[in-house]
Amino acid sequence: MPETCKKYFIKTFGCQMNIADSNRFARILDELGFTRSDSPSESDLVVVNTCVVRAKAEDKAISYIGEIERIRKSGSKVSVILAGCLVPLVNENEIKRRFPVILFSINPENVDTFRDLVLEHCKPVPDCEKISDDVIQKDSGKSSFHAFVNIMRGCEQHCTYCIVPKARGNNASRKYEDIRDEIKWRIDNGAKAITLLGQSILDYGKDWQDKKPISSIKGDDLFRDLLDRISIEFPDIWIKFLTSHSKDLLFETIDLIASRDNISKFIHLPIQSGDDGILKKMNRGHNRDDYFKLVEYINNKIPDVRLSSDIIVGFPGENLDAFEQSLDLLRRVRFFKVFTFLYSTRPSTAAARMKDDLPIEEKRARLNRLIDLQNLITLERHKELVGEKLIIMVEGPALKSEEMLMGRSLSEDIVIFNSVDFVSTGDFVRVKIIEERQRTLIGEFVDRA
Ligand code: 5AD
Ligand code: SF4
Repeated sequence: MPETCKKYFIKTFGCQMNIADSNRFARILDELGFTRSDSPSESDLVVVNTCVVRAKAEDKAISYIGEIERIRKSGSKVSVILAGCLVPLVNENEIKRRFPVILFSINPENVDTFRDLVLEHCKPVPDCEKISDDVIQKDSGKSSFHAFVNIMRGCEQHCTYCIVPKARGNNASRKYEDIRDEIKWRIDNGAKAITLLGQSILDYGKDWQDKKPISSIKGDDLFRDLLDRISIEFPDIWIKFLTSHSKDLLFETIDLIASRDNISKFIHLPIQSGDDGILKKMNRGHNRDDYFKLVEYINNKIPDVRLSSDIIVGFPGENLDAFEQSLDLLRRVRFFKVFTFLYSTRPSTAAARMKDDLPIEEKRARLNRLIDLQNLITLERHKELVGEKLIIMVEGPALKSEEMLMGRSLSEDIVIFNSVDFVSTGDFVRVKIIEERQRTLIGEFVDRA
């Protein structure tokens, strides 16, 4: 590779949406002849893909940009492309004044313009050989055999604590044909599993209302129709999806998930709180009983479901009773996994105007109680899997031991198992679960699947 090639580095904060966008940025930069580097200090361009969902995430992104600014001041020619959810929330001139290292910013609603913006701001790289065959290899959040596919952008749910709708804008669904073509392209380039992404994925297509751009997508629930078609059109591909709003998951969609072998039985169903009063103040659009009914239906239809959830602790007005309701909900539902968050006030959200006078120490103590309880439940759920045989896709060596391999099932069980010579990344294998751990399962290789 000639020396004139510019090097880039991408730092991603936040959710799978950002990971998917970063993958796309990487692909475009690769195509334009940039080369990836392992560190920002050796790069000419650093894309900082920011998250603002909680104040801590925003602070981390800002201090990261500060670090690059210092690298620049110490003599490097590095520039930053500011991306992600911080962009729509700040004035571009102001942030550039604060951090002159920023070359330009790209709004998450306009990621399609990334290529043009790069060409506008950076000199084209002369005589670069195209990096080709290993581009796809590196283009993935999990492994090169797994790909994220965005089916829509934005969120119009307006949960009162959440800044995402402001950062990500209104729903914008992609046409079925475009999604299908991207999946085909991904498969041609090695993908064996895909995760369909949308911030509130069950709203897929609702932005079209009467002007449906594609006659082939029909029915009263366009997400279900999409899932139905994709799972039929790509029968050999594992299909996963994120994230379902708990008020919008229809029984018919659950029936579909139950009826297809290639659709993941991992359902991430954020509830946020177990208390009716708090759910109302959060504007979640349902109460705990509705949630229990939904969970009951899911458990009946999909006995091997892996339910997971998000819970916020310390939302304004959460008293001890309300918090206990969250603990009670965890005990009753017995999720496989729960992502727990301390409430973080976000500017200009409805909840930011609510009285929030609970001391932070109390909030932290509640969070710890919740985490401790869920850890026990997760371990119990994992224990229930001991003795079962699961099919997993091998993702590579286990983090802690090179002699072990790591793989993931269609339903997101992470399994560490004994390395076998003839098995490599991307293979499907059957493993027998022999031991439970907090985050993972320990398995024994049985055969190729
Ligand atoms: N404070 C704490 N957690 C939040 N989340 C969203 N906004 C906030 C906030 N202001 C959590 C929710 C959501 C997840 C992605 O982040 O639980 O489901
Ligand atoms: Fe935020 Fe609610 Fe939209 Fe999720 S559904 S991104 S929590 S507003």
